[in-house]
Amino acid sequence: MENVSPMTFPFNNSVVSRQQFDQHMTLYKGYVSKTNEITKVLTTQPEYDTANATAGHYRGWKKGETYAINGMILHELYFQNLGAEPSQPGPHTLALMDKYFGGKDNWQKDFIACATSARGWCILAYEQRTSTCRNILLDSHDDGQIATAYPIIVLDMYEHAYFTDYGTDKATYIARFIANIPWDVIERRAAAVA
Ligand SMILES: [Fe+2]
Repeated sequence: MENVSPMTFPFNNSVVSRQQFDQHMTLYKGYVSKTNEITKVLTTQPEYDTANATAGHYRGWKKGETYAINGMILHELYFQNLGAEPSQPGPHTLALMDKYFGGKDNWQKDFIACATSARGWCILAYEQRTSTCRNILLDSHDDGQIATAYPIIVLDMYEHAYFTDYGTDKATYIARFIANIPWDVIERRAAAVA
């Protein structure tokens, strides 16, 4: 199987410092390289004979597979929607917020509560089975995701995302993230489901 390569993201945001951003980028690249390592192990030495639901070689690597791949994908979506300046949401985005939350202010109230409650990720997603937009809460890359959730706004709430800059003041981190959301990026994602 082909190896995956890390995407590049310029430092251009008003939410986190260069130091915080660089630390985060190091973690992201780790998920990409682990994705390649896990793929290699599971394809070349899966050790099928000892597969076991309590503990075992196959289980250990398989659990790491979804953790690493989601870690890679969610960070890419996060870095893409980490903005540098205030802007205004586009019509598709506003239509989703009106339809499923009763407006942007209501969406934002719920998103802040969801982010505050999350230990991993807060995501505005369009969930295809129920045909609804929801803010969903993940406690880790692979804990809390809905199988058919299409991500629209992705906020990293792991402590490594903000602790260097904000310490325990996650409310300010969330507020600065929301204030600088690059709504053009979100509009392109929203257009696919609005
Ligand atoms: Fe992160």
